[in-house]
Amino acid sequence: MHKDVKQILYTEEELRRRVKELGSQITADYYGRRPMLISVLRGSYIFMADLTRAINLDLTVDFMVVSSYGAGTVSSGQVEIKKDLSDSIEGRDLIIVEDILDSGNTLYYLLEVLRARKPASIRLCTLMDKPERRTKPITADYAGFTIPDAFIVGYGLDFNERYRNLPYVGVLKESVYEK
Ligand code: IMP
Ligand code: MG
Repeated sequence: MHKDVKQILYTEEELRRRVKELGSQITADYYGRRPMLISVLRGSYIFMADLTRAINLDLTVDFMVVSSYGAGTVSSGQVEIKKDLSDSIEGRDLIIVEDILDSGNTLYYLLEVLRARKPASIRLCTLMDKPERRTKPITADYAGFTIPDAFIVGYGLDFNERYRNLPYVGVLKESVYEK
């Protein structure tokens, strides 16, 4: 285990199993349709790679970079699109793929932007959900794990751009962000 990690929340094996389940559920729900999966970078890149391979549909992918955090552990509330989608979403069935749903600020803003472009439907798939911290009325249609209020890293999730490559999801030691 990494020295900055206090506790492992989900092992590689647990993540793999849950992502497979989400993939099967999406495959069943969208049977006969061609959803477009939108990965919100950077945090969802590993989840997106594994999730898309667990879905047996004729899907397409696109990527967006948004930032809401600055350098810290609390969302600033101001969201900025740093890289927009490459393709048109008009008439498409969108599945937004997020690493973690926390305050909901990022998605609240993103949903507004995307709805204005007239997709046929929008659903939200998040690997991690921290409902206790929600300040915006956002719920996930697909959620991998519901977790308590702790700052987590690994499997794509970062603290100041570090720890994304950990193969598991762990709780970061407070001493790392309090200093
Ligand atoms: P929200 O706008 O507060 O919902 O924040 C969503 C974004 O904050 C996520 O996409 C993550 O990038 C980041 N975030 C929130 N909680 C955590 C965490 O525990 N670890 C790492 N990143 C987090
Ligand atoms: Mg993120």
